[in-house]
Amino acid sequence: ASDSQPPSQCLGPEYRDEAERPEATVSKPVPHDNVHILAQTPQLIALLTMIRDKNTGRADFIFYSNRIIRLLVEEGLNHLPVVSHEISTPVGRHYAGVKFEGKICGVSIMRAGESMEQGLRDCCRSVRIGKILIQRDEETSKPKLYYDKLPEDISDRWVLLLDPMLATGGSALMAIEVLKSRGVPEDHILFLNLIASPEGIKKFADEYPKVRVVTAFVDQGLDEKNYIVPGLGDFGDRFYTM
Ligand code: URA
Repeated sequence: ASDSQPPSQCLGPEYRDEAERPEATVSKPVPHDNVHILAQTPQLIALLTMIRDKNTGRADFIFYSNRIIRLLVEEGLNHLPVVSHEISTPVGRHYAGVKFEGKICGVSIMRAGESMEQGLRDCCRSVRIGKILIQRDEETSKPKLYYDKLPEDISDRWVLLLDPMLATGGSALMAIEVLKSRGVPEDHILFLNLIASPEGIKKFADEYPKVRVVTAFVDQGLDEKNYIVPGLGDFGDRFYTM
């Protein structure tokens, strides 16, 4: 599956002739109900083109990543339940609306996931944010939990787990285990991610079918160093240091 040709699609407004709408590579579809891929709009594809480009400098990389992160958070919030909420407007009428039910928190997988914290704060004022540090153990070459700081009452919250790149899935799956060990039910976890590999998505869907994944793009596959391809390189390096 990893090497099958990715789909392409004509992009641009429908009032334009087909010949004037360029073809671009769009996300692979996936056959899992728990995985939601953002609509492959011209806007999103243009933003992804910016951050994938090796010639994009750090300031632009941050700016355009933040725009995609904002789209992911907004879409992620659509997957949280709401309850009826009727209000009165200043002109004396009622409006039958809704409001979010329950509390949420963010949990970033360090270091790259921390880049998504601001996008979450921009949408959810004073949201609590926890952190998890998982790194590869040099001896076993398996992911190992080095540090976590999570809200005490995390088991009562909906958790938005943040990590921009889902490659082999090792860290994200371990993060789910940590959350479950603190009493968070699987179906209260939403994993927000910019680019995923088909391998990582499959692992997630097989092992945690109740965890919802919201991603901007499922890419072609992984290379021999487990980088996502075509990908964008090392997200943490490009966001924080390059
Ligand atoms: N992490 C990254 O930053 N990039 C990849 O391609 C895979 C994991």
